[in-house]
Amino acid sequence: MAEYVIDGGRRLNGCIEIQGAKNSALPILAASVLCRGEVILNNCPIISDTDTCIKILRYLGCSVYRDGHTVYVDSRQIYRYDIPAELMREMRSSIVFMGAILGRMKRAEVSLPGGCELGPRPIDLHISSLARMGAEFEENHGIISCSIEKGIHSADINLSFPSVGATENIMLAAVCSDGVVTVTNAAKEPEICDLADFLNKCGARITGAGEGTLYIEGVKTLSGTQHIIIPDRIVTATYMAALSVCGGRLLLKGVSPLQLRGVSNAFEHSGLMTDYDTKGLHVSAQGVPERAGLVRTMPYPGFPTDAQPPVMAMSCFARGTSVFVENVFESRYRHVSELCRMGANIYVQGKVAVVEGSFDMSGATVEAKDLRGGAALVVAGLGASGKTVVKNINYIERGYEAFEENLGNAGADIIKM
Ligand code: UD1
Repeated sequence: MAEYVIDGGRRLNGCIEIQGAKNSALPILAASVLCRGEVILNNCPIISDTDTCIKILRYLGCSVYRDGHTVYVDSRQIYRYDIPAELMREMRSSIVFMGAILGRMKRAEVSLPGGCELGPRPIDLHISSLARMGAEFEENHGIISCSIEKGIHSADINLSFPSVGATENIMLAAVCSDGVVTVTNAAKEPEICDLADFLNKCGARITGAGEGTLYIEGVKTLSGTQHIIIPDRIVTATYMAALSVCGGRLLLKGVSPLQLRGVSNAFEHSGLMTDYDTKGLHVSAQGVPERAGLVRTMPYPGFPTDAQPPVMAMSCFARGTSVFVENVFESRYRHVSELCRMGANIYVQGKVAVVEGSFDMSGATVEAKDLRGGAALVVAGLGASGKTVVKNINYIERGYEAFEENLGNAGADIIKM
């Protein structure tokens, strides 16, 4: 399996074009199943998770063509409503196909999703919400079959937690229906707004995206459209963390301030200097970060759980102690033992991790265990002295496009072997 070999301690200087957001691209690719015309998606990241989505679309009978960052999807000939278990296992986001397929085919058959192991990742909210809209479910040997023979009907759904995936599935199932679905305590992430923007361009009637209460007024059909995926805020935060430990100056192209709500506090604390202009975000750092302070992961606009591992890697190099409280997922500290191999002082108890900054981080052979935790190890390797080998980089390649190339062009010594 491929690995990154990093010789740490180089300053970063240059410009990185921020890729399109994985967490927008995946639900929007799934949403294209609902469209009865060609969908053209620009700024679609070239990562293994989008490859998996494309495989699922083709399996369903859609015709999909990719030209660099542009993906063309035509779902007019779709004829299947099931997703094979091996494709479901490749990524957790495959569960959003459930709502989209249900909306289009009136039935769907999926197995329990895979993806990063971040503790139990149940889908009870997805199922109970779709059931309130009239879907019927059966589970047999890990295969979930659902159908809406009588059609989606109006419903008022109050989510007990603003689940991103459940909010997406509700939108996708409800958008082509005869009913009006209201979702309170809906997820407010920018990627939810991007999905709503895309669907509305196709003819949907969704209001309230990003505000916590969503109104989805069903329409008969959706047409095709052209849409540009928003920049990836987690990838942006990862490069900001890398710059904080390496020092130097980077222009992160395409990034807008609104998208960094939630993470900007931690970076301000750490002493990273930021400045926006029409080109994007200019960031500069001395190379010895200040402590990140108290970082509590929360649904948007709180600090994103996906940025916790790279920001924790940054804190390992900081002057002082940082405290992390992981409120979204259990087992999202699988990178800690690997960071400790590199000299980090991290103490975990339950959902709290206390990181005492160290000036002695040194290279080691470490293993990526999930996507963002893997990216955190790269951040640590870039700042540590000597050689770091990051194994299992297939996890990282699920979400980071041209990672080693972007970092290498900015002055890092990193190669993929
Ligand atoms: C989550 C993140 C999202 C991130 C994505 C990829 C949040 C709120 N969501 O989205 O920002 O981009 O991971 O890493 O930060 N839950 C249930 N039952 C359900 C669904 C979820 O109990 O049916 C729980 C999960 O176990 C978890 C929490 O809700 O503790 C967050 O779930 P959710 O937002 O649905 O996760 P993702 O959609 O994967």
